[in-house]
Amino acid sequence: MKLSKKINNILPSNTVVLGQKARELISLGKDIIQLGEGEPDFNTPDHIINAALDAMNKGKTKYTNVAGTQELRKVIKKYFEDEYQLSYQEDQIVVGNGGKQLIFNALLASIDPGEEVIIPSPYWVSYPQMVSFADGTPILVTCPSNNNFKITPKLLKNHINKKTIWLILNSPGNPTGSVYSEKELIDLAKVLRDYPYINVICDDIYSKIIYDNESFVTLAQVAPDLKDRVLTVNGLSKSYAMTGWRIGYAAGNRSLINAMIKLQGQSTTNASSISQAAAVAALSGSKKFLDDWIQKYHHRRNLTFDILNRNFPKFKIKPKGAFYHFINCDCFLGKIYNSEKKINDDIDFCKYLLEYFGVSVVPGSSFGCSGYFRLCYAKSETDLKKACERINKFVSLIK
Ligand SMILES: Cc1ncc(COP(=O)(O)O)c(C=O)c1O
Repeated sequence: MKLSKKINNILPSNTVVLGQKARELISLGKDIIQLGEGEPDFNTPDHIINAALDAMNKGKTKYTNVAGTQELRKVIKKYFEDEYQLSYQEDQIVVGNGGKQLIFNALLASIDPGEEVIIPSPYWVSYPQMVSFADGTPILVTCPSNNNFKITPKLLKNHINKKTIWLILNSPGNPTGSVYSEKELIDLAKVLRDYPYINVICDDIYSKIIYDNESFVTLAQVAPDLKDRVLTVNGLSKSYAMTGWRIGYAAGNRSLINAMIKLQGQSTTNASSISQAAAVAALSGSKKFLDDWIQKYHHRRNLTFDILNRNFPKFKIKPKGAFYHFINCDCFLGKIYNSEKKINDDIDFCKYLLEYFGVSVVPGSSFGCSGYFRLCYAKSETDLKKACERINKFVSLIK
């Protein structure tokens, strides 16, 4: 079958490919610990599941408004007001099949060929591919590790030109777990004020997963004058352990939201009616379970950090958010594993770790930053301890 140039130019998501490889090995009976995919190990809380069952029993099994049910959009509006003191009208809010679809739709709905999107690097694997698919040019801006991989006002300014139309900010960040402070966002906003033609996607999907008394702030909140230029994207996948339910939402400029709804209306239509009913319960119901989860993630972050940082000399900082460690492994590159296999790069490092020690992690080069790997610690303590022991054993055999 002939395929389009466009699709041939898109790279498959490495995290998904590696996840599949790990699942294949598991199906062959191999003992694999999956720390590759970014997915909480908790089950969706009961009250959310019950809301979905209730919706099915009450016949809420039909098409809904493309942009989401009125009930859910109302709840999202209130959620933005309560959590971030951000006020949107319901028609400035769209619900989609995950945050991923909404970012994709926003880019498709706004980019003309050759226009540029600034993406701080390391980045979430899908951003550059989405921009390319929308005929835009991803401008990958390497952000220094000594600034916790965050973009600075100077770096931002240096990469802006007349073709720039978007900046994508992700905080807490995947893969680094870095969190932008209020001051850092205010300083970025100062630069953005000089370029009124540039808009910002704030991907806040990990907003609830934050540690060490750090507080989450989003750009539209700290720079209200830019609110109409900011598309704030969030979703239920990570914070509520609802990856399979596929619910995300975005709020922002009305004409952009309308364009995204138009696109969604001609592609996937509404997100699942049942998942939307569950999302109403999630966003409006008790969030007590989150305190317990955050405490567990926090403990797992520290546990894995304490075990691994002995063997990875440049792994010195505990991330403030999300549930990933982004670990520098460059001291093992160019060396030989078990007197037989040369480890040329982070991809080899991850490959041998999976093949010989059954631990699945993702090479940093997938996120635009070679010499690192990403480990997801949203897994059971038993698995994490076992995986860290295996990683330590693996590196002890690299000479
Ligand atoms: C940074 C970031 N943004 C967006 C998403 C998409 O999440 P979903 O489509 O499940 O809402 C992910 C998922 O891994 C992510 O890591």
